Amino acid sequence: DPSVWMKQGLLVLSRNHQLRDVLEKAPVSRSVVRRFVAGESTDAAVEVAGELHTSGRMATIDFLGEDTLDPAQATYTRDAYVTLLGALSEAGLTQDGTVEVSLKLSALGQALGGDGEQIALEHARAICQVAANAGTTVTLDMEDHTTTDSTLSILRELRQDWPWVGAVLQSYLYRTEQDCRELAGEGSRVRLCKGTYKEPQSVAYQDKSEVDKAYVRCLKILMSGQGYPMVATHDPRLVEIAGMLAAANGRAADSFEYQMLLGIRPEEQRRLAAQGEQVRVYIPYGDEWYGYLMRRMAERPSNLRFFLRALATK
Ligand code: FDA
Repeated sequence: DPSVWMKQGLLVLSRNHQLRDVLEKAPVSRSVVRRFVAGESTDAAVEVAGELHTSGRMATIDFLGEDTLDPAQATYTRDAYVTLLGALSEAGLTQDGTVEVSLKLSALGQALGGDGEQIALEHARAICQVAANAGTTVTLDMEDHTTTDSTLSILRELRQDWPWVGAVLQSYLYRTEQDCRELAGEGSRVRLCKGTYKEPQSVAYQDKSEVDKAYVRCLKILMSGQGYPMVATHDPRLVEIAGMLAAANGRAADSFEYQMLLGIRPEEQRRLAAQGEQVRVYIPYGDEWYGYLMRRMAERPSNLRFFLRALATK
């Protein structure tokens, strides 16, 4: 299947540093990126979150960056989140978790080696403390499978102080049903997604229909549990199944939420919100958009055509 090869190829390219360095500097790319990324500055992220809030949607904001190999960059990322949370709070957007933040631990030092995990934990702690003061929450994004154990152990540490720290689980991993069971306890915020990295057959389903079926099994566990499921998908079938499972488990609209990415199916986001569902939009911002955008391209060939056409016409 050529589309599978293209997807795999794009996911390999998403980790290519040479191509990243060229494209991130090209102004042409920047304009194309705008559909999926709020902009480069804190102000741009706050503005987009404010617009979403006005239209009845919540948000979680991601300062772009990943796989940091430089301790100074990890500190810079922590400071960016602290600045962002300050600006959001000042704009009146953080009460009751209206706008929260999503962190990639690899951007905070997890990938540094040595005491990298400890550095990432300390930076995440600093961010959680500021979020707590602002009245909002933090969710730890999940990256490739080599980081899952480390990320879940940092999650457990953080939850001792801040039980509202959110986890992300990926239905493509074989291990995830078990992780769902372990994380379905009272108050546990869990974002369920399909998973977006190139993973080997030894740890992850390769077939889309298997990933989708696993997603439903995981949803059943989370919806029947005591936690707070965050249903992160654009897949119309899975959105419908999530609604049915919530109803079957007697869940009120405020006991779970739907999540989608900025720029993807915005009309569906508005439709769900208008029905009284909670909808949260994931807003990436910053200038390190390459890895994020390449993963979105891998998910949908029409996005790639859009990107290539813009490159060709500039
Ligand atoms: P999939 O890509 O299979 O698409 C299913 C269907 O959705 C399509 O057939 C189409 O109908 C519709 N659709 C998809 N894209 C569309 C578009 N552009 N326009 C119109 N329709 C479209 N991953 C990860 O590994 N770690 C993480 O921490 C996160 N975090 C995260 C947060 C949030 C809020 C979301 C929404 C997603 C993530 N992800 C993630 C990404 C996730 O794992 C996954 O790669 C993408 O969401 C794409 O998968 P879908 O579930 O949308 O299904």
